[in-house]
Amino acid sequence: MTVKYGKRLSSRFIAGRRLHDALEQVRALNDKGIMATLDHLGEGVKFASEAAGYRDAYIKLLDGIAEQGVDANVSLKPTQMGLALDAEASLANIRAVVRHAADLGNFVRLDMEDSPFTEATYSIVRRLREEGLNNVGTVLQAYLHRSALDAKLCVEDGIPLRLVKGAYKEPPSIAYQRHTEIAEQFKRLIRLHLDHGSYVAIATHDDAIIGYVKKYASERGIPTSRFEFQMLYGLRMKEQAKLAREGYRVRCYVPYGEMWYPYYTRRLAEKPANLWLVLRNLVR
Ligand code: FDA
Repeated sequence: MTVKYGKRLSSRFIAGRRLHDALEQVRALNDKGIMATLDHLGEGVKFASEAAGYRDAYIKLLDGIAEQGVDANVSLKPTQMGLALDAEASLANIRAVVRHAADLGNFVRLDMEDSPFTEATYSIVRRLREEGLNNVGTVLQAYLHRSALDAKLCVEDGIPLRLVKGAYKEPPSIAYQRHTEIAEQFKRLIRLHLDHGSYVAIATHDDAIIGYVKKYASERGIPTSRFEFQMLYGLRMKEQAKLAREGYRVRCYVPYGEMWYPYYTRRLAEKPANLWLVLRNLVR
């Protein structure tokens, strides 16, 4: 597939190349009662200068959100801030973004990448929170065996979490491989949070999990203010609007920028049917 076609296909999942495009999409989502988390695409940088560029892009993004008055926070990838190059330098970059967000009353979520970065990502979040920056959280991947324990530790420490199934290829020694096992662990993590009373983001397009959350919360009188559903931009947009109309908190993950390729290929790998969605877009 040529880069030209790939770019056109990827527009199904990516809100635009520029911040301005993305903020317009966020405003349209907000009009439907959907909040957003903005992702300035990029990961696995090779040079410290690139990481610094992404740090500055996030600072600009936070300013853009504040200036436009849209309902959005931000999600970033630790390797985008240089985690694979130099842990201390990446911490400094992430700290600068989280501090700026704190000044603006906003929140930063560190996306969880593949397992070589799991421990380091939790460490960064803990370190920043120890420094008094409480406007930072991360993501728990249900496919990892370790997530059962990580969830308990995060709940004890009050770390805000987004729960997901997990998007990377991980070996059976550390990760569940079967859909049913991943779904069971996902449900255990959901119950842990809802029972404990800590606010949690449940990020999935899976009707079975969404139905499970709705039923579990309503049977126990857990108010909808205690959790939010999250879905990706370009996927199940009607379902997102429907959930919002039903009174659930819904947040759409809105990626934008030039570095679309790794994000886009993960979406295709997760669900080959997504290829059909983008191909339909191509022939239209
Ligand atoms: P999955 O793709 O497993 O689908 C299960 C079922 O859902 C399908 O069989 C179907 O019934 C239904 N379904 C799914 N898509 C549908 C569609 N388009 N139309 C109709 N039905 C559909 N991962 C990670 O490792 N680190 C991270 O930081 C994040 N962050 C993140 C944020 C957000 C907001 C989301 C939504 C996801 C992530 N992920 C992630 C990705 C996540 O780990 C996972 O790979 C994908 O969400 C795919 O799993 P699902 O639970 O969505 O359903």
